[in-house]
Amino acid sequence: MSTPTPDLPSMTSWVADATTAPSMHNAQPWLFRYAQAEGVLTMRMDPARTMPHTDPSTRGLHIGCGAALFNLRVAAARARWEPNVRLLPDPADPETLAVITFVPSDVDNDIAGLHPALSRRHTSREPFTDEAVPEELLDGLRGAALAEGARLDVAGEWQVQALLDLVWDAERAEELAPGVREEIARWTTGSESRPEGIPTESLGPRRYDGRAPVRDFTGGHRVEGRRPAVFEQSPCLAVLGTREDGREDWLRAGQAMERVLLQATLDGLATSLNSQALEWPQLRWAVRDPSSTAGYPQMLIRLGYGPEAPATPRRPVQEVLVLA
Ligand SMILES: Cc1cc2nc3c(=O)[nH]c(=O)nc-3n(C[C@H](O)[C@H](O)[C@H](O)COP(=O)(O)O)c2cc1C
Repeated sequence: MSTPTPDLPSMTSWVADATTAPSMHNAQPWLFRYAQAEGVLTMRMDPARTMPHTDPSTRGLHIGCGAALFNLRVAAARARWEPNVRLLPDPADPETLAVITFVPSDVDNDIAGLHPALSRRHTSREPFTDEAVPEELLDGLRGAALAEGARLDVAGEWQVQALLDLVWDAERAEELAPGVREEIARWTTGSESRPEGIPTESLGPRRYDGRAPVRDFTGGHRVEGRRPAVFEQSPCLAVLGTREDGREDWLRAGQAMERVLLQATLDGLATSLNSQALEWPQLRWAVRDPSSTAGYPQMLIRLGYGPEAPATPRRPVQEVLVLA
């Protein structure tokens, strides 16, 4: 008897779910190929969507692809298939990031419960309130990161200020780096019809007070209709980190990040990401909490209570999924 494999409509819908993942500047740097006869899904990076100035090591690209992989695992688990993932299966082919096979499963997998959050999670560049995030929720998020082999360190008061100072330094470094500014401008579309990049309505308001590390994608330029706002004074910030810093660790960090973000969404929290200080090697080193066992910071996550943020566009699934 031949082993059953997921059918094409299922795989198409799982890949569509995968693509709701966050990615640097919403570049969506992933491509999928499904060979139904063998039941093998391959995830590759899209080399046309790298950012040589902002992300020369492709660390950010791997984190976004890791997040997409986690979403795919959630979608498959909800449909009662157990995904078996091999990361970086071929050292001679660095563009192949993961190969996934599936077996039908009768066992409940906890991550299936995260599925409703896939369409609700959006990066929120809106101000959050100063309401503290309860310790039980933070504990759950620490557990979500640990379950994927990463660590989530929630910053104490002095660390928050240190992190904000490092983001501020990164903003100044960006101002002096024309290549980085050009990449940001290229992906900040201002257009709702483009299926990629960050549209104007997702930029959030202009901060004139408050202490939230929210990236200003406008490069200081005036954007018609963009209102000023007061952001929170006591941001809840957490650093997601890993023990090592290879390509496999980045893919794991991306999966952990997405697990944290989806759990936070189900918990009623708004979230945003900031990688500015992590994009400069000398600042990234300083983001590291010396008391943490996670030696390598991979993402700064802001958590809190705030308005729902708009969805950003995605490429149609037919553009990212090839059927073999
Ligand atoms: C590696 C990586 C780095 C990111 N860096 C930032 C950042 O510095 N500032 C920011 O506002 N958003 C950042 N984001 C969030 C993306 O801009 C966001 O995921 C993308 O625009 C898609 O929007 P969505 O998250 O609402 O789906 C980052 C995301 C990833 C995966």
